[in-house]
Amino acid sequence: MRSRPRLFASLLAADFARLGEEVAAIEPYVDGLHIDCMDGHFVPNLAVGPAVIGSLRKSTGLFFDAHLMVTNPDVLFDELAEAGTNLVSIHIEALPDPTRVVQAARRVGLGVGLVINPATPFAAVAPFIELADLVLVMSVNPGWGGQTFIPGVIPKIEAARELIDSRGFSAEVQVDGGIDSNTAGLACAAGADVLVAGSAIFRAADAAKAARQLKEVIEA
Ligand code: DX5
Ligand code: ZN
Repeated sequence: MRSRPRLFASLLAADFARLGEEVAAIEPYVDGLHIDCMDGHFVPNLAVGPAVIGSLRKSTGLFFDAHLMVTNPDVLFDELAEAGTNLVSIHIEALPDPTRVVQAARRVGLGVGLVINPATPFAAVAPFIELADLVLVMSVNPGWGGQTFIPGVIPKIEAARELIDSRGFSAEVQVDGGIDSNTAGLACAAGADVLVAGSAIFRAADAAKAARQLKEVIEA
């Protein structure tokens, strides 16, 4: 039987001037920290990188998953691993055959996730799921927090679940974008193992309370 779905907090919605405090407040209620890295090329925005991850690593033992919205993810692997990242997620739109890059991540001790955007068909990632620890189904277009969950991605969550279960693969299914107490149930019912929430946690009046309540919904 699958274990209960888990909750990762997306750092992108946090107050970057108070990152340590923000993470400490929610740490008891989440299962990991989802860290969005952007290059201004794969997506037209910038976010944090290995330096910030390394600083955060000094203050928390949480699992760190780096969502790499970048065109050349492999150039970052050494520094991300050294900074204390546990897993890197790579977009299939940047690397239609990610085999070599998955191997490069593993060589430096990183877990690997493969990501598909809302407009990318599940078939683009299906042949490579066997290689991955995680398949991330984006439920918003990447680049910004605070967007609305796109329900049209639900069949892809179901397809990932079905393929993984029927083939006995070990990858987990992660869903990222627009997750709140309403949409969390939809993603879980479709077969998600890990939900990522940014705004629903860090933009709430009380982030710790919001994380605790969201986790209760996910585990119900
Ligand atoms: C979007 C990022 C998400 C985002 C989620 O580019 O990949 O991780 O921060 O934020 P919310 O929960 O606000 O949709
Ligand atoms: Zn993300």
